[in-house]
Amino acid sequence: MAIQWFPGHMYSTQKAITERVKDIDVVIELLDARLPGSSANPMLAELTAGRPTLKVLNKQDLADPERTALWLAYYNALPATRAIPLDASQTTPAQQIVKACHELSPNRGGLAKPMRVLICGIPNVGKSTLINTLTGSRKAKTGDEAGITKLEQRITLTDDFYLWDTPGMLWPRIIVPRSGYNLAASGAVGRNAFDEEEVALELLGYLKSNYAAGIAARFKLVELDAETMADMKDEALLDTIGRKRGALLGKGRVNLQKAAEIVMHEFRAGNLGRITLETPEEFAVWLAEGQRADAERAAKKAARKQKGKPKPEAASGQDA
Ligand code: G4P
Repeated sequence: MAIQWFPGHMYSTQKAITERVKDIDVVIELLDARLPGSSANPMLAELTAGRPTLKVLNKQDLADPERTALWLAYYNALPATRAIPLDASQTTPAQQIVKACHELSPNRGGLAKPMRVLICGIPNVGKSTLINTLTGSRKAKTGDEAGITKLEQRITLTDDFYLWDTPGMLWPRIIVPRSGYNLAASGAVGRNAFDEEEVALELLGYLKSNYAAGIAARFKLVELDAETMADMKDEALLDTIGRKRGALLGKGRVNLQKAAEIVMHEFRAGNLGRITLETPEEFAVWLAEGQRADAERAAKKAARKQKGKPKPEAASGQDA
């Protein structure tokens, strides 16, 4: 099952970004540090017309620090891009963010040329938390200037630093199947848009090979060493976890739905350890595969459309 989730109002978000970006110096893209590649929006670079970008890897407290370092190095090597890690709920990140934006757009600053920053991120990535942390007790200003929609918020961080919050949400078209699973596991996708058992199985499939110790410790699977766990079928691992946690139906059968909910809850809460579900290298491979499959789908669709069309001679046959 491919996870595809694009609520209608997100189209208006794209439109709002395109309009706002004309007067923007730096774009902040909030990413989930546990799945930076999958939580990024591939459309953003296009929508923001190549504006300098600050990638903020949020929820870094839940992510694997070694992998966060890999992602930071990867982003910092891209042109017109900076990346910083963040725990939006714990720290006071204003200084770090202001500094990084000035590095990206050194000509802006001062009352005559205030820094104008747009902040974007997929649902649940921590945008509200960050904005609340940044604004503190200051009340966020809603725009009464021409062109500012009711939903768009302008936050005055300092006298010469304005932050624009994008109205609504921006969501990627998911062409990488694994991104769908990772987004669902992270809590970004609405519950009704995916099958929890399927997502938990995919999650366990990745964790058993990469973070076996965390699973063994949390679920008290003392009998399973890393190698045995890696060789286990995902279904058998979910079954074992369900049994350990007493998620049972009648006659000793495991309630797999309940077991799946437990696995996802424990992952989201960080109880399996600090985990990152993708490295830059892995994601690059998945993306290339996804793009290839997407291009094939598009070509097939175009060919079907072409076939369905009447031939030019037939269409103009009456006049012949
Ligand atoms: P959004 O506006 O982007 O949709 O996200 P929001 O700020 O509402 O944050 C979503 C959840 O993520 C919140 O948890 C919030 O506390 C948590 N969160 C945000 N930033 C961080 C961070 O840096 N580290 C950690 N560990 N958590 C963070 P919640 O209110 O409990 O919601 P939920 O967990 O029930 O979804």
